[in-house]
Amino acid sequence: MATPNERDRFELTSLDEVKRRRTLTFDFRHPRFGLHEIALFWDGEGVYALDNACPHMFGALSDGMVRRGEVHCPLHGAQFDLRTGKCIDLYTIDVAAYAVEVRDGMVWVTAPGETRA
Ligand code: FES
Repeated sequence: MATPNERDRFELTSLDEVKRRRTLTFDFRHPRFGLHEIALFWDGEGVYALDNACPHMFGALSDGMVRRGEVHCPLHGAQFDLRTGKCIDLYTIDVAAYAVEVRDGMVWVTAPGETRA
């Protein structure tokens, strides 16, 4: 896998906005898989980014219940680690997780090869 460069990093919103709304979604275009959403989550301690579509039946994880370090799919309850995207309860497969950094109060996500849609 290629090392991500500055073109792969996207400034999405302010940390204050993520804290206020707790989840936010952004449209991206993957070079192979096309349009999809990346969701930001605030769990009270940190900000995380996952693909918004649950791999089971595409429930919107941004509508799910966020607990410390995890989100629960709103449709059938699959539990995902917010840091890694791993499906904690093995209900389904893992979801893509994206590197997040906060620079000067703004949230940046690394999505290699993708573009904003
Ligand atoms: S759609 Fe997420 S657990 Fe079924």
